[in-house]
Amino acid sequence: MVGVLADPKLQALVDRLQAQSQGQEAETGAWFQARAEKGELSSDGMDEKSHRYMADKLVALEPPKAEFCHLICRALRAKRVVEVGTSFGVSTLYLADAIRANGGGMVIGTEYEPAKAAAARATFAEAGLAELIDLREGDLRETLKVIEGPVDFVLMDIWTEMARPAIELIAPHLRPGAVIVADNTTRVRNAYRHFLAFVEDPKNRLSAMTLPFEGGLELIVKS
Ligand SMILES: C[S@@+](CC[C@H](N)C(=O)[O-])C[C@H]1O[C@@H](n2cnc3c(N)ncnc32)[C@H](O)[C@@H]1O
Repeated sequence: MVGVLADPKLQALVDRLQAQSQGQEAETGAWFQARAEKGELSSDGMDEKSHRYMADKLVALEPPKAEFCHLICRALRAKRVVEVGTSFGVSTLYLADAIRANGGGMVIGTEYEPAKAAAARATFAEAGLAELIDLREGDLRETLKVIEGPVDFVLMDIWTEMARPAIELIAPHLRPGAVIVADNTTRVRNAYRHFLAFVEDPKNRLSAMTLPFEGGLELIVKS
C-alpha cells in the first residue's frame, strides 16, 4: 500500500520511530499485565508508579490510525489541529505534514514530560516541520487554556483521565464540521466514560461512532 506521506525522508523518519515504539510494546504490555494481576491498576487513572514507568515510552499512534488522521485533515482542509498527547511526536509528524499539504497552519501539541518534549522538538526540526508545530510543554489543563481561533481537527491520544479535561477546554473552539479522533475507545471504554459522557451530552452537539481499528477509534463530528 502507498502511504499518505509523500516525502520518503519523512516516511523513513516515521518508520524509525514507529519501530522504536513497537519495540517497547511487549515489555510495556507485560508490565501493565503484571500490575493488573496484582490488582494495582485503576480505571480512574494512572498512579505515580505508572507515570514514572511511561516517562520514556513512545506509545506512538499505530500507522493505520495516524494515516487515517492525515486523510481526515486533508479532507477537512484543516488549518488548526490540536493534538492531545504528543510524546515523541510521531503522530504530530503526520498531522503537520497534512497541514503543510493544506497550505499551512498550526498543530498545537501537548506534552508534560520534559524529556519527551525535547525529543519531539528534535524530531520536528529533523523533519523540517518545526514551524508548523506549537508544542505546549506542561500539563494540558494549563497549556490548552488559550486556543487562538477555530479548531478543525483534534487527536485525543492521551492517558484517559485527561480526555475529559482536554475536551472541555477544546470544545468551545471547534468549528462546525470539526472532527475529533480518540484512540483505544473500545479497549479502555470504561476509563473513557467521563469523556464519552461529554460526547453524548446533546448540548455539546457532537455525534460519534466507533471505528473498527485495533482497540477501537472514536470518530466524533461537531454539528
Ligand atoms: C499515548 S502518548 C501520545 C503518543 C503520540 N500521540 C504519538 O502518536 O506519538 C500520550 C502522551 O500524553 C502525555 N500526557 C499525559 N498526561 C498529560 C497531561 N496532563 N498534559 C500533557 N501531556 C500529558 C504523556 O506523557 C504521553 O507522552
